[in-house]
Amino acid sequence: MHYLVTGGAGFVGSHVVLALRDAGHSVVVFDNLSTGHRAALPPDVPLIVGDLSDPARLNTVMEYERFDAVLHFAALSLVADSMRAPFTYLRHNYLNSLHLVELCVRHSIRRFVFSSTAALFGTPEQQPIMEDATVNPGSPYGESKFLIERVLHWAEKIHGLHSACLRYFNAAGSDPSGRAGEDHRPETHLIPLAIDTALGRRPRLSIFGSDYPTPDGTCVRDYIHVTDLARAHLAALEQIGTRSVTYNVGNTTGFSNLEVVRSVERVTGRRIDWCGADRRPGDPAILIAGSERLRRETGWTPHIAALDDIVETAYRWRLAHPDGYAPLPAMQDARVESRPVPAFSVPPVATAMHPPAPS
Ligand SMILES: NC(=O)c1ccc[n+]([C@@H]2O[C@H](COP(=O)([O-])OP(=O)(O)OC[C@H]3O[C@@H](n4cnc5c(N)ncnc54)[C@H](O)[C@@H]3O)[C@@H](O)[C@H]2O)c1
Repeated sequence: MHYLVTGGAGFVGSHVVLALRDAGHSVVVFDNLSTGHRAALPPDVPLIVGDLSDPARLNTVMEYERFDAVLHFAALSLVADSMRAPFTYLRHNYLNSLHLVELCVRHSIRRFVFSSTAALFGTPEQQPIMEDATVNPGSPYGESKFLIERVLHWAEKIHGLHSACLRYFNAAGSDPSGRAGEDHRPETHLIPLAIDTALGRRPRLSIFGSDYPTPDGTCVRDYIHVTDLARAHLAALEQIGTRSVTYNVGNTTGFSNLEVVRSVERVTGRRIDWCGADRRPGDPAILIAGSERLRRETGWTPHIAALDDIVETAYRWRLAHPDGYAPLPAMQDARVESRPVPAFSVPPVATAMHPPAPS
């Protein structure tokens, strides 16, 4: 199969690119490199440097090559930032995705995998959070992702575009064989920050909030190894030939921020200097995934589930890449040029969802 991967140069996307290629598929990555890295991709993966807000460019890409599915990772994804700049988040994530979904319909692409998030559950009443839990986003970031899920709902109903909405919990770790890792700039995720503090690359680690209703007062999160998360994308792709699915992707186990700090101390053998800081806006106390639907329907199960093992892979990558990915200049796929998108209206696809009315 031949796949278009938006945001494929980012943390999760690059690991999914590796998993797709390991499974024998070919990929083209579309990424503006705002937070991603050319070096996160194998050198022979075509990278089109472009922004999703430029549908003309995207349209040209889809005219040039025929894709069996699109996997969509490109987004702004910081909850706290979205509380400061709600319209930026809503515009960037929602409108860009809307363009992308419209273009998929226009180019008769029939499968779409979307990076959704646990953040669309807000502050859930029950843990673990099942797929059918009430959606009540606690931030514009979560809201933007839910809006995209709704776009995909209508894209299926009216145009027959089947999708998988994968609601990730906290992606962590790195490719066990060291081919990719996590390099956000600035980094906001707890495990890489704790590792850098242990290595003396940061003076001190801030833990946001110590008065949450959790056993030690710090937030509890479900950490899913990024390679297991990548495998969930392959499993989901197999499900969406004739239907759409929504899955939570997590380990079904929660760890508090302080438990993560202790895990990093165990793995690195070093003490971490940490201090308490104010809560961040939009952060719920506990997010633990109920991933039973994914397990039951696809047979997926995490392979690297223990927190120390997840941390170990992240630590090894950081030791091998103390400065993250080398800051290589962006390489452009010269085959693709922007052309204006002609105005279009897409006729509904005749599907089994619209049976003839009984006479
Ligand atoms: N990392 C997590 O724990 C987590 C949890 C829940 C959901 N998600 C979602 O998963 C996806 C990937 O997350 P990540 O941690 O890999 O993020 P990331 O920032 O590492 O990757 C995002 C990629 O998208 C690219 N990008 C962003 N805006 C773009 C645009 N307008 N046009 C083209 N490319 C653009 C970036 O350059 C980057 O390569 C995001 O949609 C995020 O919301 C991530």
